Amino acid sequence: IAAPSARNNPKRPTLFIEVELSDSARDDAFLRTDEIRREVQRWLADNFRQLQVGQQVDTSSLTCSDAIRSFRIADHSRGSVDEVFHTLQENDLDIAVYCPFHGEDEEPPSTQEEDESPSPFTVMPLPHKSLSGMWESLIYSDDMPQCVLRVLTRMMKISKTPNLNPAVICWHNLVLLHGPPGSGKTTLAQALAQRLAIRLAHDFSATKLIEINSHALHSRFFGESSKLVGKMFEAISAISSDESLLTVVIIDEVETLAGSRENAARANECSDAIWSTNELLQGLDKLRRRRNVLFLCTSNFKDCMDAAFVDRCGIKQYVETPSVECAYEIFRSVVNELIKNDLVTFDPTGPEDDPDLCRIETADGETRPLPSDEELYLN
Ligand SMILES: Nc1ncnc2c1ncn2[C@@H]1O[C@H](COP(=O)(O)OP(=O)(O)O)[C@@H](O)[C@H]1O
Ligand SMILES: [Mg+2]
Repeated sequence: IAAPSARNNPKRPTLFIEVELSDSARDDAFLRTDEIRREVQRWLADNFRQLQVGQQVDTSSLTCSDAIRSFRIADHSRGSVDEVFHTLQENDLDIAVYCPFHGEDEEPPSTQEEDESPSPFTVMPLPHKSLSGMWESLIYSDDMPQCVLRVLTRMMKISKTPNLNPAVICWHNLVLLHGPPGSGKTTLAQALAQRLAIRLAHDFSATKLIEINSHALHSRFFGESSKLVGKMFEAISAISSDESLLTVVIIDEVETLAGSRENAARANECSDAIWSTNELLQGLDKLRRRRNVLFLCTSNFKDCMDAAFVDRCGIKQYVETPSVECAYEIFRSVVNELIKNDLVTFDPTGPEDDPDLCRIETADGETRPLPSDEELYLN
């Protein structure tokens, strides 16, 4: 979708600021987030003329600085790759103030059956501590994750417009991240859910993440699998019935549920799989008009998936295997994290690394030597 030209577009660009509160601020965080947002807004206007995405900002002169754990100039609605300074007078500020939940806030998994079969899904409040740092850990050669996040943020905000006719603007709230195994799709889906919860912190009263275990929806009893899928959608519908609550549903390895019905029929497979796919499509269609629900699906096999499912995906994003440069950066960040926590040390007087043994090699056969000691110490 092409953006309207600047002349037609009365909306100004937006600079996204994310303020994470410390645990000590947690008890009264719900009362204070609005107050802190207003203070940050005033303080930025009084102290800065321009800001750059990723810029380090000293917040010690803020009255509420004790309550702040991290302060990020996170993103700009028109992209952040060009590293330009954004003049505050020409931009709207979108300030998200949040305090992540801890492990103990996790709700017990909802079990649907009385037997010992694993629960088909878990529910967790967002933003959550267990997902912190995930977004930053993902390294790609372009700004694909940021683009997907920007589009999703915009679509979720647009779909909340009160008088928007859903019959005309019928965006399908279904995203498919597909690509080879190990390219970071599952991690990206979880990181996107966390970032959306933060970006939309003041558009929704709270966010819930529902993670579906597709494998647990397969029953050994004939005809049971599709019933389990149906029940799961009933549960999602109940959780998301409050429109002020954002519900992000992650269906990992969705091909287990959305296998091609055509292929199954051709291979004379039992109709159970076909019924499950039917049930999945019906469930998605029922929740399509819910403006507070978003489905994030991942798959290693887009080509074997049901055409009707793929057609329903509002966004189909290919996630490529990290290039040799990205693999190098991932390796470097992993070793640096170990060094930072004193889990490994380098012996500068140790034997020279054997260049044939120590190198990064990607699936495409590209190779690069490992980062030097100096590079590891410096970053
Ligand atoms: N582009 C990437 N940047 C950083 N880490 C990555 C990247 N891709 C994969 N990983 C790491 O590899 C592991 C496997 O990723 P995962 O999300 O399970 O991949 P997938 O779901 O595509 O099979 C995770 O620990 C993840 O952090
Ligand atoms: Mg995965």
